[in-house]
Amino acid sequence: MRMVDIIEKKRDNHFLTKEEVDFVIQGYTKGIIPDYQISALLMAIYFQGMTDEEAAFLTNAMLHSGDVIDLSKVEGVKVDKHSTGGVGDKTTLILGPLVASAGAKLAKLSGRGLGHTGGTLDKLESIEGCSIALSEEQFIKQVNDINIAVAGQTAELVPADKLLYALRDVTGTVNSIPLIASSIMSKKLASGADVICLDVKIGDGAFMKTIEDARTLSQLMVSIGNRMGKTVIAFITDMDQPLGLAVGNRLEVKEAIETLSGHGPKDLETLCVEIGSHMIFNAKKAKSVEEARIIAYDNLHNGKALAKWNEFIHAQGGHIASLDDFVKVKEIIPVKANQAGYISKIKALPVGLASCKLGGGRETKEDIIDPMVGVVLKKKIGDYVNVGDTLCEVYANKIASNEILEGLLEAYEIVTEVVKPGKIILETIL
Ligand code: URA
Repeated sequence: MRMVDIIEKKRDNHFLTKEEVDFVIQGYTKGIIPDYQISALLMAIYFQGMTDEEAAFLTNAMLHSGDVIDLSKVEGVKVDKHSTGGVGDKTTLILGPLVASAGAKLAKLSGRGLGHTGGTLDKLESIEGCSIALSEEQFIKQVNDINIAVAGQTAELVPADKLLYALRDVTGTVNSIPLIASSIMSKKLASGADVICLDVKIGDGAFMKTIEDARTLSQLMVSIGNRMGKTVIAFITDMDQPLGLAVGNRLEVKEAIETLSGHGPKDLETLCVEIGSHMIFNAKKAKSVEEARIIAYDNLHNGKALAKWNEFIHAQGGHIASLDDFVKVKEIIPVKANQAGYISKIKALPVGLASCKLGGGRETKEDIIDPMVGVVLKKKIGDYVNVGDTLCEVYANKIASNEILEGLLEAYEIVTEVVKPGKIILETIL
């Protein structure tokens, strides 16, 4: 087989076979095929696309480029979730204990945040003593004992994705739906779960900008997962504003605990109940999605999800003495409205970037983050504000530059007509 023939085949819009896709991924991972030929193929895929079958071949080849986690020692159905990345997205912190409290098993390998969206590991590690460095035995035992464990990725999962992603980043081929789908699904499938719920965000700061693209990506990921014998459900969710109110590591942990205590922001609770109900139902812990929805809602309000959170954090070595002084910063600066009206949009990207610039996120992998800092929204879409009302508060440990404060003010779009907040879940794709 010759790489140049495969490039020409895709350039001319013909389908690639499983053998050809395996040849490409194996050759590239072993360093036999050079970057320039893979770049040409990526660009051909960008323009010509791939069928669902080809994308499944690609996912399968990537999945087997490194370690595949074996969760067969965990009893019962294993559920997992993935978000394509959102600002203020603390759903894993809530969904994990929530579905575990209903009897589902969540064995989750998580990543760190880079750029404007925070990672679950950073949020967990912001809790004193909380460790995500579990050995494989500890990880499996914890899931069998208490239904939930979260660990950092130590195994070499999907090395082909690291290589391909780096190349896509510098060749203008990140935004290709089959390439995104195979990148996400290869990593999820390598993590070993039976049921995968995908939260596909659309809006400012998200990979997908339109409902049509989000739908195409979701359908493709569901199709790839199904072809590999997994149950996959995709939720297209709104990112026209950050999720919930808190953005920043400890601020988000605090909001997650409030949500697990039945006092969370409405959009966040709705999203967790909805995704959670599909995880609980598919883990065979309810007879229908409707019954699972009731269990999910009830467990957020009857103390069961909160008790599971406490058990989970304790098992991971963490300790929260009190929520009252859990977030301590030198200064809390209000950002005030300079016009009256109804809030129609809060651009998520500048809010995420503000938290990042305050020290709450990483610009390079080596950066050390400040767990305390971030932004708390005081007004959301649909709220009315007068001039001088506080739109959001900045939690800072160093001087918050004008650039940060102005960025937040500009993130808010205010109009004179009444605005009705939209739905958080726009579509569910099974
Ligand atoms: N997230 C991923 O993991 N891969 C992509 O290509 C895009 C988003």
